[in-house]
Order: sequence, then C-alpha cells, then structure tokens
Amino acid sequence: MKRTNTCNELTSKDAGKEVTLIGWVKSVRDHGGILFVDLRDRDGITQIVFHPENAAVYEKAQKLKDESVIQVSGTVRLRDEDTKNKNLNTGEIEVECSDMVIHNICDVLPFPLEDERADKVNEDLRLQYRYLDLRRPRNLNLLRTRHKAATSIRDYLNSNGFIEVETPILFKSTPEGAREFLVPSRLNAGTFYALTQSPQQYKQMLMVSGIERYYQMAKCFRDEDLRADRQPEFTQVDIELSFVEREDMYALIENMLKKIWKDVLDIDIPTPFKRMHYEEAMNRYGVDKPDTRFGIELCDLTDVFKASAFKVFSGVVANGGVIKAINAKGLSDITQGELKGLEDVARTLGAKGLAFIKAENGAWKSPILKFLSEEEQKALKQRLNIEDGDIVFFAATDWEHACAILGRVRLECCKLLQNRGKINIPADQFNFLWVIEFPLMIFDEEQGRYVSAHHPFTAPVEEDVQYLDSDPKRVRGQHYDIVLNGTELGGGSIRIHQPEVQEKVFRDVLKIPEDVIQSRFGYMLKAFKYGAPPHGGIALGFDRLVTILTNRPSIRDIIAFPKTQKGQDLMAQSPSPVTEKQLKDLHIKLDEDEAVK
Ligand code: AMO
Ligand code: AMP
Repeated sequence: MKRTNTCNELTSKDAGKEVTLIGWVKSVRDHGGILFVDLRDRDGITQIVFHPENAAVYEKAQKLKDESVIQVSGTVRLRDEDTKNKNLNTGEIEVECSDMVIHNICDVLPFPLEDERADKVNEDLRLQYRYLDLRRPRNLNLLRTRHKAATSIRDYLNSNGFIEVETPILFKSTPEGAREFLVPSRLNAGTFYALTQSPQQYKQMLMVSGIERYYQMAKCFRDEDLRADRQPEFTQVDIELSFVEREDMYALIENMLKKIWKDVLDIDIPTPFKRMHYEEAMNRYGVDKPDTRFGIELCDLTDVFKASAFKVFSGVVANGGVIKAINAKGLSDITQGELKGLEDVARTLGAKGLAFIKAENGAWKSPILKFLSEEEQKALKQRLNIEDGDIVFFAATDWEHACAILGRVRLECCKLLQNRGKINIPADQFNFLWVIEFPLMIFDEEQGRYVSAHHPFTAPVEEDVQYLDSDPKRVRGQHYDIVLNGTELGGGSIRIHQPEVQEKVFRDVLKIPEDVIQSRFGYMLKAFKYGAPPHGGIALGFDRLVTILTNRPSIRDIIAFPKTQKGQDLMAQSPSPVTEKQLKDLHIKLDEDEAVK
C-alpha cells in the first residue's frame, strides 16, 4: 500500500504528476454530476475529483460515506483560479481520480466530527468513542504537541548527562501519601503490591547506586478524587541528581522549561524565575500556588479590628485569629446569585460567613457597616484603596483558614471580573514562580500529630535542624514548588541522606511506631548506611504541563485515553467485574452485595 504523498504536500509544482494518496473521507460534495471528496490524513487535506466519464470509479465514489478509508490514484491538476482555496496548503490543486480502493466503509457516526459541532457533544459520548474524537485534527494535534514536549524534555535531559531508568510500577503500600491502587499477589496469598504513586523511593535508591543523574517519564497512580487537573494515572517528568543544592535545581528546571517553551511554542520565557516564600504566597494570595497574573491581593487587617465593637471580628482576634480582606475592584455590580456562590465557596472551606462592603454612588453598603467605627472605616478605605465600584470581602478566623478562604474567593472574583471584561489575561502570559521555604511539617488536627508537608524524605533547612525536637513547625524544608499561572506544575526537594536524621524524622517528629518504620522504610535506612550521596530532585506533572502549553481547559484533552471524573474508561468499559475463578486465584472474597452475579 504505497502512497506517494501525504494529503498536505501537493502544490502547483506537482501538476501533471501521477500520485497515490490514502486517508479518510472528510466530506463528499456532488456538484452537478462531478463528485468532490476532501481526503484527510494526519497531515492535511487534498481535494479529489471524480468524473462520471470514469463510470466504475464514479459509481463507487457515489456510495462513499464520511470517514471511510480510501486509497486513490490519479493525476494532479491545477485548479481554476476561482476555485483555489487559500486556506489549504494543497488549495492550488486537486487530484483527478483514475482508480480507487475502499479499505473500510464507515458506519453512521455517533456524533459529527467538525469541531464546532463536536465540541458541543456530551463528553461521555466522546470518551466512549475516543478514537473518533481523537481523529479530529485539533485533537490529534494535541497528542502531537504532547510528543513534541516529551521529545524536548528528553533531548534536554539526555544532553545534560541524565540516564533514563525504568523503575517498577508494582511497588509496596506506603499509606503516608495519597490513596493507592492495590494489586493482590497471586503467588503470595493475602499480600498486596501498590502501584507507585511516584518513583520517589526507587529514584533515591538509584542515587545510592551511583547513577548520579536519573530521569524517567514515569507513570504514577493515585486513587484520588478527580478534578480538571487530576487523573488517577498520570505522567511525571521525574528527576533526581546527586551532589546538588537547591540553586542547581532551579537553574536546571528553568533551562528545561525555557527549552520546552521555545521548542513547542517558539516563545522565549525569561529566566531566572521569580521566587516567593511560602508564607508570603499565603499572605498575599491565600495559596501556595499563586496565580500572579492578576492582583486582588489579600490584606491583613487584624490590628484594625483588635478592639472593634464588631464582636465577630474582635472576638476572633482575641482568640489568636486574624482578619483578612480582599478588594475585588469593579465587582460592586455582583448579582445576588454570584454573591451566594462566593459565600458557598467560603463555607465549604469552613467560613462562618463572608462579610462584605460594597462601594457604590459615593456610599458604602454592608450588613456590617453599622458595627464599624469611623476610624475603622477610614483605615479600611486607605489600606484596601476602596473606590466606587469596588466590593471588599472579609474572612475572620485562624490564619490558615482565612488565607485559604480568601485565596479561593479571589480566584472566583477573577472569573467574575473576566466575564465582565474587567480583567483580561492574555493566553500567552506565563507567570512562572518558585515557591520556597515551605514548613517541613504541618500539624494534622485530625491525627493529632505532625505530618510531612511534602514527603518524609525532604531535608530540613540546615540552620533549622536544631528545632526538630523543640519546635517542629518552625523547621523549614528544603522543598521547592514550581508554579505556573496558579497551577502546581511540580515539586521536589533536597533529600535527607543521613540515616540518623531520616530515622529521627520518622520516629521523633512524625511519631511513626518503630515496627512500622522498619517494615515500611527499613530498607531505605539501611541503604543510607552504605555510602548515600547528598541528593535531591523534582517531579513535574507532565500532563499538567501539556494542558497549559496547549491552553486546554482539562487534563483529559491531552491524554490519549483519559478516565472520567469517576475513574472510568468509557471506551474499554473499565473497571469491570471479574470471574469467581479469578478472585479465587487471588485469594479474594467480595462482600455479599458486591459479589459477581
Ligand atoms: P508530587 O506529589 O508533588 O511530588 O507530584 C509532582 C507533580 O505531579 C503532578 N501530579 C498530578 N498530575 C495529574 N494528576 C494527578 N493526580 C497528579 N498528582 C500529582 C503535579 C505535581 O506537582 N515524588 C515527588 C516529587 C519529588 O519530590 O521529587 C512527588 O511525586 O503536577
Ligand atoms: P453575623 O453578625 O453573625 O450575622 O455576621 C455579620 C456578617 O459577617 C454576615 O455577613 C456574615 O456573613 C459575616 N461573618 C460572620 N462571621 C464571619 C467570619 N468569621 N468571617 C467573615 N465574615 C463573617
């Protein structure tokens, strides 16, 4: 089946040539006795003409259905001047068909494949027929871009001395992190593998092995609740190096991202990236992954309301809490419904309410205005720069919650202002940011103990090691996150490589029982006693990176066969029940009501 050309190649220079093309029938048009077929392959479109004089071929062509696969041979002809199509690379010519083979006739399509119509089709139906949805040139190109990005990354790392190593996917359960996928072992009754959440432990072991520079386009598995930027299986650009410090990591990743943006988008992104301490990110943006493309920054007003007559606020301050606010400039025309939406968002994050002040026609309107002294109002006006058309939102609670609540309300306000055309964020604006100086530990109220902010292998900042016992929350980790336009693109750290420090973190800080430490991490502690080099690394969410590169709204768009929000593959219909025999082999009994019928 030899084709002479792709469907994107032939031009006026080829006129008179005999060619063979293969592809899909994009459309058939009958122009009073002459049939035109737009033939499409992955590269482009060429117009094929069928004349009735060639009766055998013409009759076959009349039966063609859209999206059938055909092979046509014929002669390249120049089109008349008035029928040339400037939008096509092949728009100057057409191929006059002399012979045709029909490889496959396409059934009636479950949905139309033109972008304008297909985009309106229910996503579940498109996922059920994912192979058809992918056939749309725009979607096929997303996979091409993904490939281009992967190639760029591999080129970069290969030329910087990195070795790609594949690590196991069948790992062991490490319940410290995200929820895992368990795999029952047939050969070892009653025991389970867990699919790797990330190759973290393996890549650290490779450092002990002396690989020095490792990378892997690693498949990772996490049984989390899914969102627009999360999938249960996803790909990390996983990197680990020996003999590195944080500054080396920043430069390495900045240059890699610079190359990707150049190779894929032909955009020069400026380096070095800005850096922001975790605490500053929280105080100004209310999140550890701030979107710095717009303002509406958080403002602390705790001192203003310390002695306020408004007991809701002064009471919170008296209990060690904070009062924070944002000014959503120009949003005073917010509707009741939108306001209710913001309050709901705040409440799901634990807020008791979302006090606000609107400034309209030279006056303030607010349910709390009557409680505020003139002094307080003056301070607010000045600190938040309140002008006509603004609306200010308050959160009064502990620092973490106040940040989180206003951080989310800030993002929602941005959306509302974008809808009103009052905030414009250009599609090609890329605000890269390192967020650094995270706390090593955060106190988990539920468990009543400290848990790792990232993972337990992150090294503490040197000068904070002394507080590990006395004041764990004061200890900063040598952790860094790379953030892009409000998305956490990746994260990593310099690791602990001294067995005694690692053991101390497990035992004294995280309070993991001795037997659990040994069964879960014993092999690592042992490995660190055999010449473990200082090392560190990072993992970038490759799917998230490509989602941003292609400016798509969902991570599902850039994954060939994605799962739904419920973790299902609607095309292959997975997950699915298995037979009694399979379960028996795996030593598994199901609950009565879940048992296979
Ligand atoms: P972390 O858990 O932060 O770090 O993951 C690194 C990056 O992987 C991406 N990511 C995801 N992408 C899609 N779907 C998901 N469910 C998902 N979960 C995470 C994010 C995230 O920033 N081993 C450490 C890295 C290290 O320390 O070297 C790790 O896995 O973009
Ligand atoms: P209340 O006096 O409880 O009716 O509250 C007055 C206003 O303050 C209402 O608009 C509430 O939504 C809001 N509010 C109450 N508690 C808080 C809080 N902790 N943070 C921010 N606003 C609050």
